[in-house]
Amino acid sequence: MGQAATSSSPMNKSLSAPIEKMPGHWVLARLGKRVLRPGGRELTEKLLAMLDVRPTDDVVEFAPGLGYTARLTLARGPASYTAVERDRNAASVVDELLTGPNQRCVLGSAEETGLGDATASVVYGEAMLSMQVPTAKQRIVGEAARLLRAGGRYGIHELCLRPDNVSQEVREAIARDLSDEIHVGVRPLTVAEWRELLVGAGFVVQAVELAPMHLLEPRRVIRDEGLWRALRFAFNVATHPAARRRVLKMRRVFRNYGQHLSAVAMVAVKA
Ligand SMILES: C[S@@+](CC[C@H](N)C(=O)[O-])C[C@H]1O[C@@H](n2cnc3c(N)ncnc32)[C@H](O)[C@@H]1O
Repeated sequence: MGQAATSSSPMNKSLSAPIEKMPGHWVLARLGKRVLRPGGRELTEKLLAMLDVRPTDDVVEFAPGLGYTARLTLARGPASYTAVERDRNAASVVDELLTGPNQRCVLGSAEETGLGDATASVVYGEAMLSMQVPTAKQRIVGEAARLLRAGGRYGIHELCLRPDNVSQEVREAIARDLSDEIHVGVRPLTVAEWRELLVGAGFVVQAVELAPMHLLEPRRVIRDEGLWRALRFAFNVATHPAARRRVLKMRRVFRNYGQHLSAVAMVAVKA
């Protein structure tokens, strides 16, 4: 996603909207941040370890964004890899990572991919369900179930609310403040509700991992991006006042609700 900030990047169109109105993840990408999922690199690595992608696997990734996890998955040498991304510019970045005839990126929605029934052994998507309305969440999880063969694994990495009995008041305040500051409707679920969503589509949940929502905390930024990139991100934040205001507001919301917001990764198996 560092490429995103350069003038020759294919991401320029998605990233050229006025910074005040741009979705939060593209603001961060424009400032050079590559890791945009709530649990950071560490939770992604745990998710991939739990999914255990092998050379015999047919993998579908929903919403690869700028391809951070795509790179890690492709390095595992799956039999095939198909990404489904609805942003044309992000899809063209992912396209550039693909090298073989069994690797492709489809421009479209994870709600209705157009891919064949039971054609995948692994499906996953990160930081893409939390932003959907309830019906779209159900359609996407249902689409994962349709694409998977029996025994196939589905992985998610999303925001979650804690604890499971979080009050309606806190839930509404978090949804409102996140949506106001990220400029995308964000509707995280509790761990129990994510589980229910997966079970409702015919999955058996096999593993759950939690991580703090520290996306914009300096220590996590260094861990996720590496020191050099983290310094460049900090420099970009410091020198772009409009973007700085957006980043600080997002971080304030994450901090205000730190006790109630986490990242969750889950792996479920199609029964
Ligand atoms: C916050 S970014 C996360 C990208 C990437 N998964 C990551 O973790 O870095 C959200 C991405 O999801 C994509 N997206 C959101 N809803 C989608 C859908 N229904 N189908 C396909 N892509 C979707 C957006 O275009 C964007 O690239």
